[in-house]
Amino acid sequence: MLSFFIMKKCYIIREESGGMKMEIKIFEDASSLDSYVADELCACVGMEEHPVLGFATGNTPCGAYDQCIEKYKRKEVDFSKVTAFSLDEYVGMHHQNERSFFYFMKTHLYDHINIAKENIYALNGAAMDMDSECHRYEELINKNPIDIQLLGIGMDGHIAYNEPNTPFTSITHVMELHHESIESSLNYGFNSLDEVPRQGVTMGIATIMKAKRLIMMAKGADKTELVDRMVNGIVCESFPSSIIQTHPNVVVVLDKEAASSLRLNTIK
Ligand code: F6R
Repeated sequence: MLSFFIMKKCYIIREESGGMKMEIKIFEDASSLDSYVADELCACVGMEEHPVLGFATGNTPCGAYDQCIEKYKRKEVDFSKVTAFSLDEYVGMHHQNERSFFYFMKTHLYDHINIAKENIYALNGAAMDMDSECHRYEELINKNPIDIQLLGIGMDGHIAYNEPNTPFTSITHVMELHHESIESSLNYGFNSLDEVPRQGVTMGIATIMKAKRLIMMAKGADKTELVDRMVNGIVCESFPSSIIQTHPNVVVVLDKEAASSLRLNTIK
């Protein structure tokens, strides 16, 4: 069954087939999209006794984090019981490094809300033994199942740092970064490609799929064909983000530009 609603600020397409349900929301502007995501995160924080949130880094979620901070300042949300996980990290990078994903989360969110430091978990890219670091992280996630995992899509279709052809069964692991991901890192403060680490450490695809709810965010015309493939394409390891089609509780949130190539021809 397929239905299509038009709302004031967004269009909602809901697709159900074979028990799977994929919800896609298309917002008129990035700020309405950010508000929706911040509302979802804060509603979860208000509802769960021990909320566990999985955060993504990158440009896409920054506005949603800003809106979470604003809500906290207005005393609309209390993050003191939240446990947080980050999706990924550069291998070889200390958390103090300004380009680390940990530093990103600290400066874009954690430093501005009342989350308890001991409840913030992140992969240590500078660990001496990356195998045991990956094992440690996977176990932590198993003990603290993630209520909402935020995701973005990479220019090669990756989710977290799971590059094309990562097995869908993968758990937390080290990944050789593909060229597109290395290039995209220039958006994150690196001055040249030479400075960008060649490896990432990342939640695996199976790790991500364990989350109770996924919120996949995409903004901008650059992402539009990738978004269409993610949502309408074949689910295959060569395009990792396509796996979200098989999650039982996923919402894809897009601005108009990211949705501009979305094939809606399945809508009756
Ligand atoms: C970030 C991450 C990546 C990004 C993706 C999109 O933790 O895991 O998958 O979500 O590369 O990045 P932006 O938002 O910068 O386009």
